[in-house]
Amino acid sequence: MKVNTQLLFLLFSMVLLFVSCKTKPKEQTTDSSIDKKWWKEAVVYQIYPRSFKDSDGDGVGDLNGILSKLDYIKSLGIDAVWLNPIYSSPNDDNGYDVSDYRNIMKDFGTMQDFDVLLKGMHDRNIKLVMDIVVNHSSDEHEWFKQSRSSRDNPYRNYYHWWNAEKGKPPYRYSLFDVNHDAWKYDSLTNAYYLHYFSQKQPDLNWENPKVRHEIYDMMIFWAKKGVDGFRLDAFQFAAKDTLFPAFPKGFEKDFVKYYAMGPHLHDYLKEMNREVFSKFDVMSVAEGAGNTFEDAHALVDADRNELNMAYAFEAIDIAKPEGYSVLHFKEVFSKWDSAFASKGWLSIVLANHDQARLVSRFGNDSSEFRDVSSKMLTTFLLSMRGTPYYYYGDELGMTNAGFEKIEDYKDMPTLNEYQHQKNIGGDLKKYMEFIKFSCRDNGRTPMQWDSSINAGFTSGTPWLKINPNYKYINVSAQEKDENSCLNYLKKMVKLRKENEVLVYGKFTSIDKNNPDVFAYTRELNGKKMLILLNFRSQPVTVKTGIDISKAKTLISNYKTPSVNGILQPYEAIVYELYN
Ligand code: NOJ
Repeated sequence: MKVNTQLLFLLFSMVLLFVSCKTKPKEQTTDSSIDKKWWKEAVVYQIYPRSFKDSDGDGVGDLNGILSKLDYIKSLGIDAVWLNPIYSSPNDDNGYDVSDYRNIMKDFGTMQDFDVLLKGMHDRNIKLVMDIVVNHSSDEHEWFKQSRSSRDNPYRNYYHWWNAEKGKPPYRYSLFDVNHDAWKYDSLTNAYYLHYFSQKQPDLNWENPKVRHEIYDMMIFWAKKGVDGFRLDAFQFAAKDTLFPAFPKGFEKDFVKYYAMGPHLHDYLKEMNREVFSKFDVMSVAEGAGNTFEDAHALVDADRNELNMAYAFEAIDIAKPEGYSVLHFKEVFSKWDSAFASKGWLSIVLANHDQARLVSRFGNDSSEFRDVSSKMLTTFLLSMRGTPYYYYGDELGMTNAGFEKIEDYKDMPTLNEYQHQKNIGGDLKKYMEFIKFSCRDNGRTPMQWDSSINAGFTSGTPWLKINPNYKYINVSAQEKDENSCLNYLKKMVKLRKENEVLVYGKFTSIDKNNPDVFAYTRELNGKKMLILLNFRSQPVTVKTGIDISKAKTLISNYKTPSVNGILQPYEAIVYELYN
């Protein structure tokens, strides 16, 4: 069985292969050369609505649940919330299969609840970023129902159809399909339709101007309500060569290379920018960033008038069950920073709803090191150049649940792949081991509010099992503990907000070949900070060549930070340097 192959295909591992970064751009260090924007200065907190807080006891988080926690969200100091999709959906893929883009999913509440929530956020100066899922819709969307009803239906061209009399369409890989086949035969009209994701997520045909304008109108509907930004789900796959040529043998599954950044993608984004983004004060962030730095720049450089911010996967993909190389981690972040030093803007991200938990993947979730390694990762995320995306629960150091039984998993692609492995006689034991570490359900277990039944998440039966460690890893306990992960995040957010150098300052990696420590400086307008991060569970040495005798320690995850160049396990220190 090819477990590693599955790892590749589990989409959020949409691996970016960098081909080149030819020119080293000139660095920006002075205030006047900086193009300041709120979305560059913001810390974004991502909420998976299904798992945040249930207000009505049905076991599923909802909008009123989020509303009831707005003061908590505000207390983090963050500026914006990215909400995963909240539109009407039959929930094949937890809302990433939209059946009505202008309505709220029943499980989550009503449009009135949404309006109240948005107002509650704005009253607290929190901005809202909506998730826009328009590479595909649900097969239960009215457009698709019409489209499949007959070959001459006016909605037929809203989707990609291949008439069966032409023979079988050239193979396309599906990320979520049990058989990995992206063409589904529909006997009603004797034709195949395309679905890069599940059979219930047919791909929309972006070549059809009617589709594009329906989407722009829908985005305007939300922009007029006052939302502050859009995250474009899987959009690099929206543009396709609709002649569907055969892909070279052996490469037909190379998803990012062959399926992303197709013809006209930039035309669509420029049009979307003209029709929507340019008319409202909204930010836009891509999911994925193409294949190369050039691709990423083409998506987000300001003079292109497309999107604002790239959201690349190369770093997120580094963590593997067997661990990862710290040198590789440093190299990836350093080269992205260098490629975007003078133009374009990046997201800084290590975790989201498509990944297992931050501390379990990039830190150390043992009882000895969970707390300290989680704080170290928080220090990293909040001290890099780029907009930090911080995933709910990571502020507590929430860990992988690591379910043992397949029945405990709810994630559709995981269950489909299990079935696939079963069908082909694969090694199910190995697959179970793999998902225990990697499955995205690990990152979706309900928020741990307190030590009461169901972690204070719901009075009903939670849709996904709660991690039993909620008894001691929870908001209520951490709010009371001055040294908790939660309070550390708050301090780190505050530090970033009070020091522009951490947002816009030049990044320089030092002690580059140190295989254990990520050390770097940030500099802006004569202000300089030094950040030291030990990624190991042992004491390690760092050689910065910087005299820290006059430096001021701004924050550290140990009560007594080290001073002798030997960092304690997972130690993180941020210094302000003085000449
Ligand atoms: C990317 C989203 O992040 C993921 O959760 C979803 O399953 C796919 N796109 C399909 O929409």
